[in-house]
Amino acid sequence: MPALIQADNLEKVYMRGSESVNALNGVSFKIDKGEIVAIVGPSGSGKTTLVNILGCLDNPTRGKLTLDSEEIFKDGLELTESELTEIRRKYFGYIFQKFFLLPTLTVRENILLPSVFQKRFKANDRYLQDILELLGIEKRGDFLPKEISGGELQRVAIARALINKPKILIADEPTGNLDSKRSEEIKQLLLELNRVNGLSIILVTHNPELAKIGSKTLSILDGKLC
Ligand SMILES: Nc1ncnc2c1ncn2[C@@H]1O[C@H](COP(=O)(O)OP(=O)(O)O)[C@@H](O)[C@H]1O
Ligand SMILES: [Mg+2]
Repeated sequence: MPALIQADNLEKVYMRGSESVNALNGVSFKIDKGEIVAIVGPSGSGKTTLVNILGCLDNPTRGKLTLDSEEIFKDGLELTESELTEIRRKYFGYIFQKFFLLPTLTVRENILLPSVFQKRFKANDRYLQDILELLGIEKRGDFLPKEISGGELQRVAIARALINKPKILIADEPTGNLDSKRSEEIKQLLLELNRVNGLSIILVTHNPELAKIGSKTLSILDGKLC
């Protein structure tokens, strides 16, 4: 079976004024369907840069990325923002450390937001209700973000990541703002999503307990796997 994600020699060079920053220096690996992969490494080592490229939020400078046998990035060819958007909708859900919920929308509206932009898939009420229940926030649908707790906010962010039925969930430090009890809940939830839905998960984390759920760990230092 072909790998779900195949990365070959990914490189990323950022320009800061006239200075260049080599954030990724030739990273290669593969991830199979249904795997949970933890990405660990010190601050500034390139973790976010890597998951942003894997998640097609950004083009690599060089290298190749294949998703489910579809060639996404190959040497030197930049994808446009609309091409990237199309690929993101097809494959990914994202959870960020900062939740990026819109303060004037209710919980329900925030969760539905990605599906508003998704032309092929329209979330129906049943599916939304299932997700709210799965995440234990079914009583919070009509609340505003400022009216719910930090743990609930994170669960809303996870619900939003699931609304388009992604193949791959990308989580960049999903428990970074949570206490240990909430972190444990998120850990159990990710395991459940993986077990029940076969969701593949790429997880950047500083939390050793959370990193343990990975069937594979990628350690990154100075933009290289080690
Ligand atoms: N948009 C950017 N422009 C310039 N440099 C960046 C940018 N994003 C990240 N960097 C630099 O790239 C390196 C890797 O950053 P990052 O991927 O955010 O690391 P991590 O997530 O492991 O903390 C750091 O030196 C960082 O300062
Ligand atoms: Mg980061």
